Amino acid sequence: MAKKILSQKFYDEMSKLEPRYPTKVALLLPALHAAQDETGWLPPEVLEEVAEYIGIHPAQVREVASFYTMYNLKPVGKYHLKVCTNVACSLRGAEGLVAHCEKKLDIKCGETTKDRKFTLHEEECLGACGTAPAMMLNNDYHENLDVQALDRLLDSLAK
Ligand code: FES
Repeated sequence: MAKKILSQKFYDEMSKLEPRYPTKVALLLPALHAAQDETGWLPPEVLEEVAEYIGIHPAQVREVASFYTMYNLKPVGKYHLKVCTNVACSLRGAEGLVAHCEKKLDIKCGETTKDRKFTLHEEECLGACGTAPAMMLNNDYHENLDVQALDRLLDSLAK
């Protein structure tokens, strides 16, 4: 095993969670979340370290991480915007929000700004359909968005 990347804080957090799960494998999703919180994304070395901690093959960890869109297998900007474009959000203007982000940030969905500050993605349902349109900014929800509110948010982050 190569040099460890994840901190002692990661391992302490996992030790606290472990008794709550029936098996160590069941810890995989929270472990990936904690690892991503620490490193911003999940490079192959981090997936290998998570695999070693859990006790499974790195390919299994990659399979799981690549299935869920909330795990970043490529570097993302400081602010990761995930705009839901599923049905409820779409009916309430989500495409306009995406278009506004693309124009204002001068990037397309899936891209990161040159200063590495913003990454934009379209997302499937975020489970906030009742307050559509919804977007996640890193791990925080922003709901009932309109272009004006989004614009204010982007301006505050750009400072
Ligand atoms: S459709 Fe957008 S949160 Fe469910």
